[in-house]
Amino acid sequence: MTTENDSRRIKIFDTTLRDGEQSPGASMNLGEKLEVAQTLSDLGVDIIEAGFPIASPGDFEAVREIANSVRGATVCGLARCNPSDIERAWESLKGAALPRIHVFLATSAIHREFKLRMTQDEIVQRAVEGVRLAASYCDDVEFSPEDAARTEHDFLCQVVEAAIDAGATTINIPDTVGYATPQEMYDRIKLLLNRVPNIERAVLSAHCHDDLGLAVANSLAAVAAGCGQVECTINGIGERAGNCALEEIVMALRTRSELYQCDTKIRSEGLVPASRLVSTITGLDVQRNKAVVGRNAFAHESGIHQDGMLKDPSTYEIMRPEDVGFAKTDLVLGKHSGRAALADRARALGFNITAEQMQHVFERFKELADKKKEIYDGDVVALIQQEISGQVDEAWSLVSFHVESGSQQPPTVALTLSHGGQEHHQEVSQGDGPIDAAFWAVERITGYQVVCKDYRVSSATLGRDAQGEVHLEVEHEGRTYRGVGFSTNTVEATILALLNATNRIAAAAATTENT
Ligand code: KIV
Ligand code: ZN
Repeated sequence: MTTENDSRRIKIFDTTLRDGEQSPGASMNLGEKLEVAQTLSDLGVDIIEAGFPIASPGDFEAVREIANSVRGATVCGLARCNPSDIERAWESLKGAALPRIHVFLATSAIHREFKLRMTQDEIVQRAVEGVRLAASYCDDVEFSPEDAARTEHDFLCQVVEAAIDAGATTINIPDTVGYATPQEMYDRIKLLLNRVPNIERAVLSAHCHDDLGLAVANSLAAVAAGCGQVECTINGIGERAGNCALEEIVMALRTRSELYQCDTKIRSEGLVPASRLVSTITGLDVQRNKAVVGRNAFAHESGIHQDGMLKDPSTYEIMRPEDVGFAKTDLVLGKHSGRAALADRARALGFNITAEQMQHVFERFKELADKKKEIYDGDVVALIQQEISGQVDEAWSLVSFHVESGSQQPPTVALTLSHGGQEHHQEVSQGDGPIDAAFWAVERITGYQVVCKDYRVSSATLGRDAQGEVHLEVEHEGRTYRGVGFSTNTVEATILALLNATNRIAAAAATTENT
């Protein structure tokens, strides 16, 4: 058994692609999931939970593709405790170099009584059968007693012991509803370590939700008590208030290593790029003051702080921005900058994109440099984000638009779109404002009616010539789709964002037709 004073390596189990994807509106397509999985592997994550294979054919396919392509990390698939889930999970995982099946079954009295209608004995029996079946396929089996943080102590110890005897190699303790406090989490892990006789045959893990804003604190308490694995997501995304944030737990363990006597194998310089990628792909913004990766995480506003920083950064800085992946200087590029300078800057900002993607980014960089003299890091990030978010099949694309708007006339947008890169379609629409008119024009041309659920404009950089960044969420036939668009012209950014969402609708419609 590991004690608090040994220096230990904590395994990082990332569930951005499973629990994170359960955030409302955060669903990702196959290409996006593969990109996130590769980024997580490059970041040094030990285990990637790639999805819940039985949930849908798309989930199954994503887990299978990730299992077949990622080599540096264990790839895990989630399964309820029944044969069809477990068999489906294994089917999707069997091409992985390091596969793991994650089986879960609720154990708390509330879940037993109201959700499962099962007795304690039935739960133990179901857990044992499920873990045995998973272990017959795969050496690496994780068992989670769902809602463990609210499960009776004696019963939790009984289930955990039985699951380990049945072949579980990791026992994960979820605080499913984010109810626990750090002291309770610490005590619960200690209880299991002290009372479960075969506990040294498994790695103990913590999976904390953030409903009370305690997910990271609870995970740290679990590590202090002896857990060897922490489950987390990039930017803390996940069900409801989310999960333990990967970047926060990793930097807390590193910055306070003298206290926790442990570390992870995460390459911390990749944290900011991974955060940006997940934010771009899911459309979930990172708040400015977010710990570690927020835009303001290292900004010192007060004069006293700035003075201290100039004298010695350690006065007010406990981590160095470059250690988490913030670029050192905001280098300015311009229209004479070449492809090599742009590629260099993209690498310095932590992006690892293909030559083909760089070609597209470079073309847009040249267009942007014609419109604005100075191109900052924020612009480069926006150009790359545009490339990444545009990875959906471009059924519809913008050819040209013209806006007329003023105090004496109704706002009008004349729009030309191309379909499949060929036919041109035109429409002139009016609306309550130019944005509304743009929505009408896109809807009339594409034929996809949408309800706008969220619309946000922000600027990619400082300055009045900054690129506008439009994020929107629309509903079509009961499903939510998101879109993002960038331009120095807000109406254009809106059209691009709506086309991005419309192309997702078209891709979903094509998938349904083909199945
Ligand atoms: O929060 C939870 O209980 C879960 C389990 C499936 C591990 O996500
Ligand atoms: Zn969870």
